Amino acid sequence: MSDRPPNFIGEHVMYGYKDVLLNSYNESFRKMKKLMISCISKHGFSSKHFQDIADEEFRCVLNQFHALNGQAVDPVDLLLPSFCKLVGGFFSGKHLKDGDPILESIIAMDHDGDVMIQPQVHGILGKFPWLRHCCGFYGNLYSNVIKQRESLFQSLVTEMKETVNKDNVQCFSHQLLSWKEAESDWLTDEHINGMLLDLINTSVLTTKSVMSGMIFMWLHLPDVQQKMREEIDLVIGRDRLPTIEDGKSMPYVQACIYELLRYQSHLPMTAAHANIDHEVEIEGFTIPKGTVIMGNLYGAHHDEELWDDPWEFRPERFLKDDGTPVPRDHASHRNSIAFGVGERKCVGKEMAYNRMFLYTVHLLRTFEFLPEVDTVLPPHHPRHFAPSAPVILPHGFKCRALPR
Ligand code: HEM
Repeated sequence: MSDRPPNFIGEHVMYGYKDVLLNSYNESFRKMKKLMISCISKHGFSSKHFQDIADEEFRCVLNQFHALNGQAVDPVDLLLPSFCKLVGGFFSGKHLKDGDPILESIIAMDHDGDVMIQPQVHGILGKFPWLRHCCGFYGNLYSNVIKQRESLFQSLVTEMKETVNKDNVQCFSHQLLSWKEAESDWLTDEHINGMLLDLINTSVLTTKSVMSGMIFMWLHLPDVQQKMREEIDLVIGRDRLPTIEDGKSMPYVQACIYELLRYQSHLPMTAAHANIDHEVEIEGFTIPKGTVIMGNLYGAHHDEELWDDPWEFRPERFLKDDGTPVPRDHASHRNSIAFGVGERKCVGKEMAYNRMFLYTVHLLRTFEFLPEVDTVLPPHHPRHFAPSAPVILPHGFKCRALPR
């Protein structure tokens, strides 16, 4: 069940499935996924160059919160451009400033991509693909997405081609362009742009969902917020910047991240899986060819046979009695599948995790987060979160960030 069913975006936006997320399980998919994983591991947070870009961006975000002087803000509005800048930094090897054409393309692509992947929109376009040629909502949306796809290509791939140099490969785009020569029998500019487009929508939307969920949890559970901050103060203090390695000495913060991914189950379902041209047998059940299946991650994370009190937020599930982390083969880790499993599992698990960790520690060491004055917060219960397909996140809320 590792294929994807035929779909509108794969066919008409990704140049006929020249990407990873929407492609079926074929040779071209396997080669692209391998390159993508290798590129992320080389140029993500393990790269000093990218870490410096990220640190600069965290500084900017903290300044923006400071500038509000404790005034209430919707944290997603403030953080969304920052998530796009991090993705842009990973693509381009530069800290992007407001107004940079690469950043503008990423923000626009993220926005219209989010509209296009809504099931009611993608479903209609899948049934009536000719709507893309008509005037009105669907035609306008499609032509915007294609305009942004081309402008991303112009601003990023074309610029990167001018600066790529095999002795100075410092970002995702340079890496793919420099591999293009070695993989010249199949890797084209369209594959490269397809992979960039994949990463915009998979990473910005998910980071938005997990970070709004994180801040929302702090407002509801100030004791958890304070306990996380105490661990951050103890391990990092105020005199140096946080690093990814600090996570190893912060079991409580880590446990809160794991528990948040389980409790809120930001991506409640996997992407659609299919078996395009063959029957499949799973645990005695025959699945006829052409069946579409989606994994119910939300169900698995709230299954009362697997979890005690699954509707309670309890980071201690990931800790031993003495506060040290449970081993990776513990049931709590085995049953946590926020990033999917098998051949189609997420390529960005580590990057997503590192991003959550760093935003969390930078924000908590600098501010105390409080709800807006005189308003009632929506409930902190995943059954009440808003569907914003394909992710779920807390209903719109505001927070105040008070400098410590
Ligand atoms: C907390 C954040 C994230 C969560 C919860 C998440 C979760 C998932 C899930 C559930 C899938 C689908 C698995 C399936 O269909 O069986 C997936 C696929 C994918 N994710 Fe993520 N993801 C996150 C962040 C990211 C980031 C940051 C990136 C990029 C750097 C990324 C890139 C991808 C890609 C390319 C796929 C498609 C893989 C394939 O089709 O083989 N994700 N993710």
